[in-house]
Amino acid sequence: MNPAFTRVTVTGIRQAAGDTHVLTFRDECAAAAIQPGQFCMLSPAPGASCIYLPRPFSYFRALDDGRVEILFRALGRGTRWMAGLRPGDSVAVFGPLGRPFQLEAGAARAVLVAGGVGLPPLALLAERLLRLERPPRIDLLYGETRGERVVELGGVLPPAVRLWTASEDGSTGFRGRVTELLTQKVWPTLDTPPAVYTCGPRAMLAALADILGDGREVHSFQASLEENMACGHGICMGCAVELATDAPQPYYKLCCKDGPVFNGFEVKWR
Ligand SMILES: Cc1cc2nc3c(=O)[nH]c(=O)nc-3n(C[C@H](O)[C@H](O)[C@H](O)COP(=O)(O)OP(=O)(O)OC[C@H]3O[C@@H](n4cnc5c(N)ncnc54)[C@H](O)[C@@H]3O)c2cc1C
Ligand code: FES
Repeated sequence: MNPAFTRVTVTGIRQAAGDTHVLTFRDECAAAAIQPGQFCMLSPAPGASCIYLPRPFSYFRALDDGRVEILFRALGRGTRWMAGLRPGDSVAVFGPLGRPFQLEAGAARAVLVAGGVGLPPLALLAERLLRLERPPRIDLLYGETRGERVVELGGVLPPAVRLWTASEDGSTGFRGRVTELLTQKVWPTLDTPPAVYTCGPRAMLAALADILGDGREVHSFQASLEENMACGHGICMGCAVELATDAPQPYYKLCCKDGPVFNGFEVKWR
């Protein structure tokens, strides 16, 4: 195992919605340093190895008492193992890693667009934007395929954040995609070009890039990508992201080291 991993103790795990859980562990050093958009690599403690590669997760919350929260969806082997963790268990964590969101201090409006488990870094970002000397007005748009997957954010988001939810099955909030929620409901309420921050499935990010690239005026556009990662710090070269360029050769950057947050207008989405 990489020497930069540290062993931490799980202090809590709770179901947040459907197959989505919040894992809490104590990591004082990380909690003090975390910036929104950064992530950690997480794996079983040595000797308990049911998965070989560590898995990347964004930080959801960094609490003043040194506890850190990860919000995750149980999808495959690694995340199902995580869902079975209990307080007192030990896990190996490596972080904070990656390039965070830049807090656009000059923007009077911020629009945060989250799809599925793209929610965690944007929840943390909302809280940090509100700490700016002149905080922007914040709209957080959060979409899921099914309403049963929508995570209740009461007690997590500061009250100043205007939260909009969407579900494709229409059982919670706006019926449709989060990008439709943006264009139909939220964009008409904006009085100044917003700083746009996003994280979610690649198809959603690409759709958002199309919408913003279509002549809409924005202050900036930052997108956090969730590529598959093996090492998390620039060694394996497994997380390349192609950037848009006029050059004949393709141009790549590493999601883990140069990202996961990129200028959304620079990524080659398709
Ligand atoms: C920077 C970063 C931050 C992330 N933050 C979060 C987070 O906060 N919460 C969260 O739940 N997930 C997050 N992810 C995705 C998470 O890492 C994957 O869901 C996880 O690796 C799946 O592991 P597994 O062993 O359960 O699934 P696997 O058995 O490896 O795969 C199960 C399913 O998940 C898909 N999958 C695997 N890895 C990824 C991936 N990296 N992105 C998207 N789909 C994947 C597979 O295609 C497959 O369909 C993040 C990924 C990155 C790169
Ligand atoms: S995950 Fe290994 S280089 Fe990015």
